[in-house]
Amino acid sequence: DKSLRQTADERGFNFGVAVDPDALRNDVSYRARVRDEFNTLTPENALKMGPLRPSPETYDFGDADAIVNFARANDMDVRGHTLVWHNQTPTWFQPWDYTDDQLERFLREHIQTVVGRYRRTVDVWDVVNEAVADDGTMRETVWYDAMGETYLDRAFEWAHEVDPEADLYYNDYGADAINEKSDAVYDLLERLLDRGVPIDGVGLQLHALGEWPDCESIAENIRRFQALGLDVQITEMDVAFPAGEAPEDALQRQAAFYRDVVEVCLDTGVDTLVTWGVGDANSWIRVFRDFSERYTGDPLLFDDRNRPKPAYDAVIDALDG
Ligand code: G3I
Repeated sequence: DKSLRQTADERGFNFGVAVDPDALRNDVSYRARVRDEFNTLTPENALKMGPLRPSPETYDFGDADAIVNFARANDMDVRGHTLVWHNQTPTWFQPWDYTDDQLERFLREHIQTVVGRYRRTVDVWDVVNEAVADDGTMRETVWYDAMGETYLDRAFEWAHEVDPEADLYYNDYGADAINEKSDAVYDLLERLLDRGVPIDGVGLQLHALGEWPDCESIAENIRRFQALGLDVQITEMDVAFPAGEAPEDALQRQAAFYRDVVEVCLDTGVDTLVTWGVGDANSWIRVFRDFSERYTGDPLLFDDRNRPKPAYDAVIDALDG
């Protein structure tokens, strides 16, 4: 039987996975799955500002390098996630210690350093992550407070200056189908494009938790972003039921949703889909109590012991079809 990776390669499709450097180093079955089943890697945490910046003056690229080197050794692409986020900033980083100008310089230096280091090895970046709040207003983050909406303009410009070849993405959750939030993301990206900001694409995370978005609406949403001239990727997919409410045929229903989303990708010309973890044991949903209390902790293509689930066969079928 063909692996997912072989099937994706034959189709010219990037099927990716979020990875953890410790599991890559220490867990043999995890490492084998990553290598054999996927052709694109996203560091789940290692390229975020917190993990990269142990102190104001230093960078620790060890974990990020380990993932990038693994990808190169196994002929895989890397999606860089993420340069600008309000979450997972370093613990020593206290915004009130900085003036607005200092924050702007800090962010510029961070982007220049990180994008510069991976110029030849990371060709896609989630430059800005989750800048829009759930009600569609701009999220009031440290970066927004210091620079207003133009923090996005600058972030994309700085990344583009350092690596003009890289594809630069805006990435968000809950904006997968047509809804209030995706309307707001659409308007934001249209404003950026009108201002000449070098943005290439939009990442739809697709954390399908509890209520799953409607696939026709996802397709329509993808098409409107494409009509703006943007590429679209599915960047963090996982699929869970409300806790305690999983139906008898939960795994089949999950598989069908994964299949439908792959078909939406093929129909709309989306060439990249990333799942947010390898096996269910690695899912972030299990780590965060407020999520594990609300959703089933089995959202991925492989089970607790990294054995393929029905969803795995379903995505292969869809890619092979
Ligand atoms: O690595 C440290 C470890 O040294 C420490 O001992 C331990 C104790 O708390 O924490 C470990 O770091 C945790 C890290 O995951 C690795 O497990 C962080 O506390 C924890 O906050 C972090 O969670 C990550 C989360 O982003 C942070 O908000 C999840 O792994 C990661 O899956 C999740 O990913 C996000 C995307 O970046 C953006 N979209 C939503 C998605 C899911 O929340």
